[in-house]
Amino acid sequence: MDLYEHQARELFEEHGILVPPAEVTGSPKEAREIARRLGGRVVVKAQVKTGGRGKAGGVKLAADPAAAELTARQILGMDIKGHTVGKVMLAQPVDIADEFYVSYVLDRAAGRFLAIASAEGGMEIEEVAATRPEAVARIPVDPAEGVTSARATEIADAAGLPPQAVDVLVRLWQVLVREDALLVEVNPLVRTTQGRILALDGKVTLDDNARFRQARWGADDTGHDDPLEAAAAAKGLNYVKLDGEVGIIGNGAGLVMSTLDVVAGCGARPANFLDIGGGASAQVMADGLSVILSDPAVKSVFVNVFGGITACDAVADGIVQALETVRLTKPLVVRLDGNNAARGRAVLDEHAHPLVQQVTTMDGAAARAAELATTA
Ligand SMILES: Nc1ncnc2c1ncn2[C@@H]1O[C@H](COP(=O)(O)OP(=O)(O)OP(=O)(O)O)[C@@H](O)[C@H]1O
Ligand SMILES: [Mg+2]
Repeated sequence: MDLYEHQARELFEEHGILVPPAEVTGSPKEAREIARRLGGRVVVKAQVKTGGRGKAGGVKLAADPAAAELTARQILGMDIKGHTVGKVMLAQPVDIADEFYVSYVLDRAAGRFLAIASAEGGMEIEEVAATRPEAVARIPVDPAEGVTSARATEIADAAGLPPQAVDVLVRLWQVLVREDALLVEVNPLVRTTQGRILALDGKVTLDDNARFRQARWGADDTGHDDPLEAAAAAKGLNYVKLDGEVGIIGNGAGLVMSTLDVVAGCGARPANFLDIGGGASAQVMADGLSVILSDPAVKSVFVNVFGGITACDAVADGIVQALETVRLTKPLVVRLDGNNAARGRAVLDEHAHPLVQQVTTMDGAAARAAELATTA
């Protein structure tokens, strides 16, 4: 689960990393009060779980409490990469001399963590990393050893960070370990004109496997930041939202993964991953269809089933029953193969729903679903 910036800020503060005084609100009126408490001038920051807020107009300086109210009113409700801004954080402005980048991230392939740091932090860090990778230091961190002062000094030296950053690097590692995070990132970590080192922005991703011992972040939070993923999780579905227009339902993770590839190979983009597993019951099919159809980006749906222990006729029955409860609003392409495929196809033929069509091969069905999505 990703934390909001203001939650990351709270963790940094608890672990002794300096942060500017700040408060969070969803109300422009209250934003004015907060600005007054913080001394008048404030930075108003959209609280959304996505990057690039500054470039999207979600981070703005307000000169006084009245301007803070106005700016909060502008930013609240704004859409940033599909995330609606429900809260803003107001922070005291800092006089910045230098902006640095520091993070620790789990390197699964290497079985350890990676410290990434740069003396050229700020909103252009992606550009720096892409065009001048040598400006970004990458130092492996053994999880058993952790980041000692010696290791932190090595990281700071490799990145060209000032000696005062060493203490922050050690504390940031403590945040990662004690809070069960997979990622902690500070961008920018700044040196102020008075020479203090402060974290002005923070991103923390917690390990969902450790949620049982990190109860403070809310047991009712499903950990899903996408509303469709949250709805699917509530129904017990194995669903991941993607950016495309072809809804996908399949049985078995491997088959669904290859379905995504085949649809992409046909020139369309999959709208989701959804594995309905072995027991493709009518209920699971109905739940899956209703989640997929509620995604406004979806233009067609591809049901790709290879009958095994759950035979194709059972899946076809499931589809027919699901269509009694879910109103189909987009074309549905079904490919049934494997155990009892002929019987399954006959069930769907007999039902003859005007929006349902069958194609017997996976490639052919993917091409049909892609065509329906791109010409819709
Ligand atoms: N308290 C502050 N005082 C002065 N400047 C600030 C403050 N907070 C942010 N800024 C400036 O605004 C820039 C963008 O802020 P921030 O890093 O929080 O947003 P962002 O990087 O655009 O968001 P994200 O990290 O989600 O992409 C910072 O690089 C910094 O220059
Ligand atoms: Mg940032």
